[in-house]
Amino acid sequence: MDTLKFTVLPGDGIGPEVMETALNVLNHVAQKHQFTLQYEQCYVGGAAIDRHGMALPTATLEACRHSDAILFGSVGGPKWENLPPEEQPERASLLPMRKAFSLFANIRPGLLYPELADASPLKATRIPQGIDMVCVRELTGGIYFGQPKETTTLDNGEKRAVDSMVYHTSEIERIADVAIETARGRGKKICSVDKANVLATSVLWRETVIKYLSEKAPDIKLSHLYVDNAAMQLAGNPGQFDVILTENMFGDILSDLMASICGSLGMLASASLGADKNSHGLPFGLYEPAGGTAPDIAGQGVANPCAQILSAALMLRHSFGKSQAANEIEHAVRQTVSTGTRTQDIAFDTKSVSTQQMAQAILSHLE
Ligand code: IPM
Ligand code: MN
Repeated sequence: MDTLKFTVLPGDGIGPEVMETALNVLNHVAQKHQFTLQYEQCYVGGAAIDRHGMALPTATLEACRHSDAILFGSVGGPKWENLPPEEQPERASLLPMRKAFSLFANIRPGLLYPELADASPLKATRIPQGIDMVCVRELTGGIYFGQPKETTTLDNGEKRAVDSMVYHTSEIERIADVAIETARGRGKKICSVDKANVLATSVLWRETVIKYLSEKAPDIKLSHLYVDNAAMQLAGNPGQFDVILTENMFGDILSDLMASICGSLGMLASASLGADKNSHGLPFGLYEPAGGTAPDIAGQGVANPCAQILSAALMLRHSFGKSQAANEIEHAVRQTVSTGTRTQDIAFDTKSVSTQQMAQAILSHLE
């Protein structure tokens, strides 16, 4: 029997609540599709700071190293906000994890089912077909990691801080590859987003993308937008997008905008794929919901479990090649929200259900 070995990092806030439902769903499909789950739960983020004094303990990192994927909840919260920035859960766990596992490709599907159109802040007339796009964001380069990155005090006592935006051709090509593969599985359109009217890295980005796609993917329809225009287009006419391909910081900002127009953050999953292959010959990856720890509702049992469950589906597809099981989970989630079983964030005028009830409904649609 096929064994799926992964590390479970529930983290903080609503992380543990929604993680439990995702594990139930995984166990359900594992039984049906005859594969075995082998997972170890470890502490990360604020929970790890409280217990081990650091956001990414060595034991957690080691467990991840011995797995084929990571199912991540979310980290951070008001309790740790007064720590120095570099010790805070997000910075001290997520960023080092991305670097340690070369998680260079962040895939965020922006999906708004037409039946959930009233969850979007956009007028329904702007999104007649709902939204169905994917943001492919470079995740280990650019201004997040470029050197030098420092704050110094000048002779006159003034402080000076520097972040460096750096890209190499090879980094651009490998993320372009992920976008190509993603687009081939969908509408075969890529919109590459840069700021080539200002930034040197963006000039290289655009040049490289044009050359690479003309050689490797003449079947893909390629277009380009400056990032400011891309933001405007996303807010005005998101239906034009299939796959957006962009660098680290632009992707951070645009994917939040995409999340917002798709309605609830509680529905958005993400995959961060590594450069290395796992023991299944597929990318090692970290899978996490986009919504964060939601401290305001943590512990109340009302968080939307969908993003975590959909992240588990992405893990099955990308790191374990279980596309059929992943499709079934995605279908069950859609069935559930379409038939009106909804947590408070997407309930509107209808009565809302608890995390557990929503998860139960998803399980029953999997039957
Ligand atoms: C994200 C987050 C992270 C990022 C933070 C928490 C470091 O905003 O995954 O989009 O900026 O990449
Ligand atoms: Mn972000």
